[in-house]
Amino acid sequence: MRLRKKPWVKDEIVSYGRLVVLDPEKNRGQWKEWFGNDQPIHIELGTGKGNFITTLAEQNPSVNYIGVEVREEVLISAVRKAANKGLTNITFLWFNITKIDEVFAEDEVSRIFLNFSDPWPKSGHAKRRLTHTEFLKRYKKILERGQEIHLKTDNEKLFEFSLNELSNNDFRLKNITLDLHNSKFEEAKSVMTEYEQKFVSRGMKIYRLEAVYQ
Ligand SMILES: C[S@@+](CC[C@H](N)C(=O)[O-])C[C@H]1O[C@@H](n2cnc3c(N)ncnc32)[C@H](O)[C@@H]1O
Repeated sequence: MRLRKKPWVKDEIVSYGRLVVLDPEKNRGQWKEWFGNDQPIHIELGTGKGNFITTLAEQNPSVNYIGVEVREEVLISAVRKAANKGLTNITFLWFNITKIDEVFAEDEVSRIFLNFSDPWPKSGHAKRRLTHTEFLKRYKKILERGQEIHLKTDNEKLFEFSLNELSNNDFRLKNITLDLHNSKFEEAKSVMTEYEQKFVSRGMKIYRLEAVYQ
């Protein structure tokens, strides 16, 4: 566990009960039972302040959502949003994505969202990118075949890297756009993350793809 800069955040996180799962490894293979239904599970990795996933949870009550975020100072904003909306089909993990396969069992996840992941531009840091082959291996352990990763980024180099990594690792790419907010993908542009709102307001282009695990 990393050092906590703001101890009150931990207290507030714990106060939200089921909206945050503090020991998620215990639910491995049993997330449907934990939610109490048979709905598909969609996860967002690096969920940040949570606008994207809480909006999707509100719009799609027949899907269960799990947001994963390691920085408690942003996670708390996401949890507050879910609480304010009274959502019951969502929870959050205060957890490091590097160990994601310790939290979900084989085929337990039906969709993975990667939104504005840190680009790690130095080549020596390539292994930290969330679309590096080593991360894709973990995603393939938990994602059902035929299901998808949806990725958005403002970073051209990360997008290029991700296209190559995904296509070299059993993913079929589709619905690619180099300018989401001037594209035909109405649904994808209708729900924005906090980073996306900032970049779009500055007139920056957003890259997006869908990758089917074959
Ligand atoms: C650039 S921000 C984007 C946040 C949000 N997806 C958005 O678009 O507004 C990337 C987020 O991923 C989180 N993150 C990066 N690496 C992570 C890891 N290994 N485990 C969990 N969260 C991580 C960071 O703490 C940060 O909140």
